[in-house]
Amino acid sequence: MQGAPLATVGVVGLGAMGAGIAEVFARSGLQVVAVEIIEEALDRGRATLTRSTDRAVARGRLSGTDRDALLGRITFAVGLSALAEVDLVIEAVPERLDLKRRLFADLDRICRPGTILASNTSSLSVTEIAVATGRPDRVVGMHFFNPAPVMKLVEVVRTVTTSTEVVGAVQELCARLGKVAVTIADRAGFVANALLFGYLNQAVGMLESGYAGREEIDTAMRLGAGLPMGPLTLLDLIGLDTAYEILETMYRRGGRDRRHAPVPLLRQMVTAGLLGRKSGGGFYRYERPGSAIVVPDGQTPAAAPLDGARPVRRVGVVGPGEAAEGLGEIFRRAGYDVVVVARDAGRSGGSPGLTALADADLVVEAVADELASKQALFAELAEVCKPEALLATTTGTLPVIDIAMAARRPAEVVGLHLLDPTPAGAVVEIVRTVRSSPEAVTTARAVCAGLGRAGVVCGDRAGFVVRALLHPYLNDAVRMLEASYATVDDIDHAMTLGCGYPAGPFEVLDRVGPEAALRIQRRLYRESREPGLAPAPLLEQVVTAGRSFRGQPAE
Ligand SMILES: NC(=O)c1ccc[n+]([C@@H]2O[C@H](COP(=O)([O-])OP(=O)(O)OC[C@H]3O[C@@H](n4cnc5c(N)ncnc54)[C@H](O)[C@@H]3O)[C@@H](O)[C@H]2O)c1
Repeated sequence: MQGAPLATVGVVGLGAMGAGIAEVFARSGLQVVAVEIIEEALDRGRATLTRSTDRAVARGRLSGTDRDALLGRITFAVGLSALAEVDLVIEAVPERLDLKRRLFADLDRICRPGTILASNTSSLSVTEIAVATGRPDRVVGMHFFNPAPVMKLVEVVRTVTTSTEVVGAVQELCARLGKVAVTIADRAGFVANALLFGYLNQAVGMLESGYAGREEIDTAMRLGAGLPMGPLTLLDLIGLDTAYEILETMYRRGGRDRRHAPVPLLRQMVTAGLLGRKSGGGFYRYERPGSAIVVPDGQTPAAAPLDGARPVRRVGVVGPGEAAEGLGEIFRRAGYDVVVVARDAGRSGGSPGLTALADADLVVEAVADELASKQALFAELAEVCKPEALLATTTGTLPVIDIAMAARRPAEVVGLHLLDPTPAGAVVEIVRTVRSSPEAVTTARAVCAGLGRAGVVCGDRAGFVVRALLHPYLNDAVRMLEASYATVDDIDHAMTLGCGYPAGPFEVLDRVGPEAALRIQRRLYRESREPGLAPAPLLEQVVTAGRSFRGQPAE
């Protein structure tokens, strides 16, 4: 067993992660030796640490005296020789295997034989790094999350050679730091990144293809899925160069899943020096390098984007009693003049109530989510509504164009998929089909603004933005469980404590309902034919058995 608890630690590389990791150690009373490769990078790292601790003082989370003591526990140095006497070294140098292997070989030579060598790698093989040393039993993964002082999770990666004593010492260290350790085996992306990076890459793909805009993708995920930040903002925080390397490694090590092959736009941005916050520009532009404050740029939506919207005063809502009433209430509260036509699911042909919609400027339907019912209704609406009326379907799962064509005036049809408000607010996916007119889309945007909801314009593909990005991640979590890599709790913790998600994937799956999740996943798979989107067999089994994920007894 480890004798005395670890007292001195070294941190190599003080970039986006290393500076935060050094702060976490020093805050818990450990002596820290912080090492960089050149003087300039060392100054930058020191400045990051000072800024971060000053911020903590300004927010009342740290006293001035404690900040001085914290900084006083950190020694700054250029070169590895300063690490000769420390008990543990963690590295946070760029995500490249050759670099890390060389560094570990050097550390092995320089540090005492008992020193534990830890890597903060996000995706590389800790085993391959370990065997570059003469002490693979004392090498371990210690994967912190960004920003390290805030995120509670540390993934402790034990390789086949890591000794039990070292794993124990690192787990104990995590507890002293106030972190939650999830101990796992050495697989590409471990738990959190294996689930996160496919999603991030897919979001870049949506932007690159013009499927949805930058702000729209981020807003959709923040308000539609309740995530702390959108995927493109998160990529800017992670650093696009780091993200690119992680995706590359995930692709190579993680079974060559095409969803991890970096979208070309990422590589172009890295080559162009657009690395995210750290370089002052990435998907967004920032006040200065290292700042989190976004400043407008050429892609920022124009100030008066709603020119050309048709006036909407009278809104018709069609659907079975409660759904239509609820929807009508949303419009009524926003000051629209609302007519509700109650109509049961599946009913078609000669609904006399529809004539009340003759002078509506907008008709929104909320009948059963079956294509035939919606097509029948839209065919009737085309007969009774005035020609310039905007016709909207609230479907979350059907192709809007199939419904629009039934209306025989597809230019005036859009999707308005209202997602339940999250604590951050409410969002509506405005689905533009290949036949929707620009005026129809602008009018829909003006209506969303009138409702006080964020409108996100996107194309007419399965899952629109939110479900298309969220459900593959949920399905991947089920696959990870199925492979016995981690437990339901570990996976949920990884996403809540590591990425700040309000709920882990299994909590979300149980809330959505495994059956609904399976239906959505099947649709995503059928449309894309992407092998990685095939529903996880365990998801199908859970549905067949009528069970839930968190509710089911341990097997
Ligand atoms: N960025 C994230 O969100 C994040 C999250 C978790 C883990 N990680 C992992 O942390 C590691 C570092 O990523 P980052 O985003 O902080 O990178 P970064 O580019 O922001 O920082 C890397 C730092 O390492 C320094 N460096 C390079 N070579 C060195 C050497 N030989 N000796 C000493 N210092 C050296 C650089 O000067 C730089 O300051 C990677 O393995 C990454 O996968 C990153």
